[in-house]
Amino acid sequence: MIELAKLKDIESGVLRECSIDTGQGQLSLILIEREEGFKAYTNSCPHQGRRLDFAENQFLMTENQELVCPAHGAVFELNKGYCLSGPCKGQSLRQIDIKVDEESIFAILE
Ligand code: FES
Repeated sequence: MIELAKLKDIESGVLRECSIDTGQGQLSLILIEREEGFKAYTNSCPHQGRRLDFAENQFLMTENQELVCPAHGAVFELNKGYCLSGPCKGQSLRQIDIKVDEESIFAILE
């Protein structure tokens, strides 16, 4: 397990980029707290594998709190990471399993 963030540093509903060292290289993840709990996805668009942040920790969002890829405009809902429209419609962001304890959120990597 790798710590992604401290709970005290999380702003609910705001996407946060987390770079972690997997032991086999760096991996960039996106973390968000939703009503249903925390979600983590790889920061990589299924269309061409580009990052989804356009600047450090900056993401494009729709009015409905969907994530927009800054490269070609794919739109992702963030309950399951499903692409609703754009060039990779029907595909999904890769979801990462997480664990939350009293203090922190962790990524569970296989
Ligand atoms: S790389 Fe995201 S829509 Fe093309």
